[in-house]
Amino acid sequence: MPRKALIAANWKMYKTPAEAKAFVDAFLPLVASHTRDEIALFPSPVLLPTVVAACKSTNVAVGAQNIHFAEEGAYTGETSIGQLKAVGGTHTLIGHSERRQYFAETDEIVNKKLHTALKHGVVPIVCIGEVLEEREAGKTAGVLKTQVTGAFAGITPEAAVPIVIAYEPVWAIGTGKTATPEIAADAHRIIRAEVAKLLGAPVAAAMRILYGGSVKPDNAAALLNQEEIDGALVGGASLKPDSFTAIVKY
Ligand code: 13P
Repeated sequence: MPRKALIAANWKMYKTPAEAKAFVDAFLPLVASHTRDEIALFPSPVLLPTVVAACKSTNVAVGAQNIHFAEEGAYTGETSIGQLKAVGGTHTLIGHSERRQYFAETDEIVNKKLHTALKHGVVPIVCIGEVLEEREAGKTAGVLKTQVTGAFAGITPEAAVPIVIAYEPVWAIGTGKTATPEIAADAHRIIRAEVAKLLGAPVAAAMRILYGGSVKPDNAAALLNQEEIDGALVGGASLKPDSFTAIVKY
Protein backbone atom coordinates (compact mmCIF):
# COMPACT_ATOMS: atom_id res chain seq x y z
CA MET A 1 0.00 0.00 0.00
CA PRO A 2 1.56 3.32 -0.99
CA ARG A 3 1.54 5.88 1.80
CA LYS A 4 -0.81 8.81 1.18
CA ALA A 5 1.14 12.03 1.60
CA LEU A 6 0.13 14.61 4.18
CA ILE A 7 0.88 18.26 3.46
CA ALA A 8 0.59 20.25 6.66
CA ALA A 9 0.74 23.95 7.48
CA ASN A 10 2.28 24.97 10.80
CA TRP A 11 1.27 28.60 11.19
CA LYS A 12 3.21 28.96 14.45
CA MET A 13 2.27 32.18 16.32
CA TYR A 14 0.93 34.03 13.29
CA LYS A 15 -2.48 35.30 12.12
CA THR A 16 -5.53 36.85 13.75
CA PRO A 17 -8.93 35.14 13.39
CA ALA A 18 -9.78 37.50 10.51
CA GLU A 19 -6.50 36.69 8.75
CA ALA A 20 -7.02 32.97 9.32
CA LYS A 21 -10.53 33.15 7.88
CA ALA A 22 -9.26 35.09 4.85
CA PHE A 23 -6.58 32.44 4.28
CA VAL A 24 -9.09 29.57 4.40
CA ASP A 25 -11.59 31.36 2.16
CA ALA A 26 -8.89 31.89 -0.47
CA PHE A 27 -7.24 28.48 0.00
CA LEU A 28 -10.20 26.07 -0.07
CA PRO A 29 -11.27 26.75 -3.67
CA LEU A 30 -7.66 26.32 -4.81
CA VAL A 31 -7.42 22.79 -3.38
CA ALA A 32 -11.08 21.71 -3.52
CA SER A 33 -10.46 19.01 -6.12
CA HIS A 34 -7.14 17.86 -4.67
CA THR A 35 -7.45 14.24 -3.60
CA ARG A 36 -3.90 12.94 -4.07
CA ASP A 37 -2.73 14.12 -0.65
CA GLU A 38 -4.19 14.83 2.76
CA ILE A 39 -4.08 18.48 3.79
CA ALA A 40 -4.04 19.83 7.35
CA LEU A 41 -3.74 23.26 8.95
CA PHE A 42 -2.20 23.83 12.40
CA PRO A 43 -3.18 27.27 13.72
CA SER A 44 -2.78 28.74 17.22
CA PRO A 45 -5.39 27.58 19.78
CA VAL A 46 -7.38 30.84 19.66
CA LEU A 47 -7.81 30.41 15.89
CA LEU A 48 -9.05 26.83 16.06
CA PRO A 49 -12.81 27.50 16.21
CA THR A 50 -12.62 29.92 13.26
CA VAL A 51 -10.49 27.62 11.13
CA VAL A 52 -12.45 24.46 12.01
CA ALA A 53 -15.73 26.18 11.12
CA ALA A 54 -14.33 27.47 7.82
CA CYS A 55 -12.97 24.01 6.89
CA LYS A 56 -16.06 22.02 7.93
CA SER A 57 -17.03 19.31 5.40
CA THR A 58 -13.99 20.01 3.21
CA ASN A 59 -10.86 18.05 2.36
CA VAL A 60 -8.80 20.12 4.83
CA ALA A 61 -8.25 18.88 8.40
CA VAL A 62 -7.40 21.10 11.34
CA GLY A 63 -5.22 20.43 14.35
CA ALA A 64 -3.32 21.96 17.25
CA GLN A 65 0.36 22.87 17.39
CA ASN A 66 0.59 21.46 20.90
CA ILE A 67 -1.50 19.77 23.59
CA HIS A 68 -0.93 19.08 27.25
CA PHE A 69 -0.55 15.45 28.33
CA ALA A 70 -3.00 15.82 31.22
CA GLU A 71 -6.69 15.47 30.48
CA GLU A 72 -7.41 18.61 32.53
CA GLY A 73 -6.02 20.39 35.53
CA ALA A 74 -4.28 23.43 36.92
CA TYR A 75 -1.95 24.04 33.96
CA THR A 76 -2.24 27.74 33.24
CA GLY A 77 -1.88 28.61 29.59
CA GLU A 78 -2.17 25.06 28.26
CA THR A 79 -4.72 23.36 26.00
CA SER A 80 -6.14 19.91 26.74
CA ILE A 81 -6.89 17.17 24.26
CA GLY A 82 -10.57 17.34 25.25
CA GLN A 83 -10.66 21.05 24.49
CA LEU A 84 -9.06 20.43 21.11
CA LYS A 85 -11.58 17.73 20.26
CA ALA A 86 -14.52 19.79 21.51
CA VAL A 87 -13.75 22.54 19.00
CA GLY A 88 -13.37 20.00 16.19
CA GLY A 89 -9.60 19.55 15.97
CA THR A 90 -8.56 16.10 14.73
CA HIS A 91 -4.74 16.30 14.67
CA THR A 92 -1.95 17.64 16.84
CA LEU A 93 1.73 18.35 16.47
CA ILE A 94 3.81 16.97 19.32
CA GLY A 95 7.37 17.89 20.27
CA HIS A 96 8.02 20.54 17.64
CA SER A 97 11.64 21.68 17.95
CA GLU A 98 10.46 25.13 19.05
CA ARG A 99 8.59 23.45 21.91
CA ARG A 100 11.73 21.50 22.79
CA GLN A 101 14.01 24.54 22.46
CA TYR A 102 11.92 27.28 24.14
CA PHE A 103 9.57 25.33 26.40
CA ALA A 104 11.89 22.58 27.60
CA GLU A 105 9.95 19.67 26.14
CA THR A 106 11.83 16.43 26.57
CA ASP A 107 11.40 13.06 24.92
CA GLU A 108 9.62 11.98 28.10
CA ILE A 109 7.04 14.76 27.77
CA VAL A 110 6.65 14.00 24.06
CA ASN A 111 5.97 10.38 24.99
CA LYS A 112 3.28 11.36 27.52
CA LYS A 113 1.60 13.63 24.97
CA LEU A 114 1.72 10.89 22.35
CA HIS A 115 -0.05 8.48 24.72
CA THR A 116 -2.71 11.13 25.41
CA ALA A 117 -3.33 11.85 21.71
CA LEU A 118 -3.63 8.17 20.81
CA LYS A 119 -5.92 7.45 23.75
CA HIS A 120 -8.30 10.14 22.52
CA GLY A 121 -8.17 9.32 18.83
CA VAL A 122 -6.34 12.47 17.76
CA VAL A 123 -3.80 12.00 14.94
CA PRO A 124 -0.36 12.84 16.35
CA ILE A 125 2.49 14.26 14.29
CA VAL A 126 5.61 13.64 16.33
CA CYS A 127 8.38 16.08 15.41
CA ILE A 128 12.02 15.08 15.68
CA GLY A 129 15.29 16.37 14.26
CA GLU A 130 18.90 17.18 15.07
CA VAL A 131 20.46 20.59 15.69
CA LEU A 132 23.37 21.82 13.58
CA GLU A 133 26.07 20.92 16.12
CA GLU A 134 24.77 17.36 16.29
CA ARG A 135 24.82 17.02 12.50
CA GLU A 136 28.31 18.48 12.25
CA ALA A 137 29.53 16.13 14.97
CA GLY A 138 28.17 13.10 13.08
CA LYS A 139 25.55 12.46 15.73
CA THR A 140 22.39 12.72 13.59
CA ALA A 141 21.53 9.01 13.49
CA GLY A 142 22.01 8.63 17.23
CA VAL A 143 19.88 11.69 18.00
CA LEU A 144 17.05 10.51 15.75
CA LYS A 145 17.09 7.01 17.25
CA THR A 146 17.01 8.42 20.79
CA GLN A 147 14.11 10.73 19.93
CA VAL A 148 12.10 7.94 18.29
CA THR A 149 12.77 5.49 21.11
CA GLY A 150 11.88 8.08 23.73
CA ALA A 151 8.71 9.19 21.98
CA PHE A 152 7.47 5.64 21.40
CA ALA A 153 8.06 4.20 24.88
CA GLY A 154 5.13 1.98 25.85
CA ILE A 155 3.39 2.38 22.48
CA THR A 156 2.18 -0.92 20.99
CA PRO A 157 2.20 -1.70 17.26
CA GLU A 158 -1.63 -1.69 17.25
CA ALA A 159 -1.82 1.72 18.94
CA ALA A 160 0.90 3.18 16.70
CA VAL A 161 -1.03 2.97 13.44
CA PRO A 162 -2.25 6.61 13.31
CA ILE A 163 1.15 8.10 14.22
CA VAL A 164 2.85 10.41 11.73
CA ILE A 165 6.46 11.48 12.20
CA ALA A 166 7.86 14.80 10.98
CA TYR A 167 11.60 14.94 10.44
CA GLU A 168 12.57 18.57 10.88
CA PRO A 169 16.30 19.20 11.05
CA VAL A 170 16.50 22.22 13.35
CA TRP A 171 19.19 23.88 11.20
CA ALA A 172 16.71 23.95 8.29
CA ILE A 173 13.78 25.52 10.15
CA GLY A 174 13.14 29.13 9.23
CA THR A 175 16.66 29.46 7.87
CA GLY A 176 15.97 29.06 4.16
CA LYS A 177 18.53 26.21 4.30
CA THR A 178 16.68 23.08 3.17
CA ALA A 179 18.06 19.61 3.63
CA THR A 180 18.82 18.19 0.19
CA PRO A 181 16.34 15.51 -0.86
CA GLU A 182 19.12 12.95 -0.34
CA ILE A 183 19.97 14.15 3.19
CA ALA A 184 16.27 14.13 4.10
CA ALA A 185 15.68 10.69 2.59
CA ASP A 186 18.71 9.29 4.45
CA ALA A 187 17.34 10.58 7.74
CA HIS A 188 13.91 9.15 6.93
CA ARG A 189 15.46 5.73 6.31
CA ILE A 190 17.20 5.86 9.69
CA ILE A 191 13.91 6.82 11.37
CA ARG A 192 11.92 4.11 9.59
CA ALA A 193 14.49 1.46 10.49
CA GLU A 194 14.24 2.51 14.14
CA VAL A 195 10.44 2.35 14.03
CA ALA A 196 10.72 -1.14 12.50
CA LYS A 197 12.99 -2.22 15.35
CA LEU A 198 10.52 -0.93 17.94
CA LEU A 199 7.16 -1.73 16.36
CA GLY A 200 7.82 -4.20 13.55
CA ALA A 201 8.31 -3.88 9.81
CA PRO A 202 4.63 -3.61 8.77
CA VAL A 203 3.94 -0.66 11.10
CA ALA A 204 7.16 1.04 9.97
CA ALA A 205 6.37 0.49 6.29
CA ALA A 206 2.95 2.10 6.68
CA MET A 207 4.03 5.03 8.88
CA ARG A 208 4.17 8.40 7.20
CA ILE A 209 7.34 10.42 7.69
CA LEU A 210 7.03 14.06 6.66
CA TYR A 211 9.89 16.44 5.98
CA GLY A 212 9.92 19.95 7.43
CA GLY A 213 12.44 22.77 7.24
CA SER A 214 12.28 25.57 4.67
CA VAL A 215 9.95 23.70 2.31
CA LYS A 216 9.05 26.19 -0.45
CA PRO A 217 7.17 26.01 -3.76
CA ASP A 218 10.47 25.70 -5.64
CA ASN A 219 11.93 22.80 -3.65
CA ALA A 220 8.76 20.88 -2.75
CA ALA A 221 8.73 18.57 -5.78
CA ALA A 222 12.35 17.47 -5.39
CA LEU A 223 11.74 16.62 -1.74
CA LEU A 224 8.31 15.06 -2.10
CA ASN A 225 9.29 12.95 -5.09
CA GLN A 226 11.64 11.01 -2.83
CA GLU A 227 10.03 7.67 -2.07
CA GLU A 228 10.99 8.02 1.60
CA ILE A 229 9.31 11.42 2.02
CA ASP A 230 5.59 11.10 2.71
CA GLY A 231 4.61 14.74 2.92
CA ALA A 232 5.71 18.07 4.28
CA LEU A 233 5.30 20.18 7.42
CA VAL A 234 5.55 23.73 6.18
CA GLY A 235 6.13 26.85 8.27
CA GLY A 236 6.77 30.19 6.55
CA ALA A 237 5.59 29.16 3.10
CA SER A 238 2.25 27.96 4.51
CA LEU A 239 1.15 31.43 5.57
CA LYS A 240 0.04 32.53 2.09
CA PRO A 241 -2.67 30.60 0.21
CA ASP A 242 -0.78 30.76 -3.09
CA SER A 243 2.53 29.45 -1.85
CA PHE A 244 0.95 26.74 0.30
CA THR A 245 -1.23 25.67 -2.64
CA ALA A 246 1.85 25.46 -4.86
CA ILE A 247 3.41 23.11 -2.31
CA VAL A 248 0.24 21.01 -1.98
CA LYS A 249 0.13 20.66 -5.76
CA TYR A 250 3.90 20.07 -6.16
P1 13P B 1 9.84 26.70 7.95
O1 13P B 1 9.11 26.05 6.80
O2 13P B 1 9.48 28.14 8.14
O3 13P B 1 11.32 26.43 7.88
O4 13P B 1 9.31 25.97 9.29
C1 13P B 1 9.34 24.59 9.35
C2 13P B 1 8.62 24.14 10.56
O5 13P B 1 9.06 24.37 11.68
C3 13P B 1 7.33 23.46 10.39
O6 13P B 1 6.90 22.89 11.56
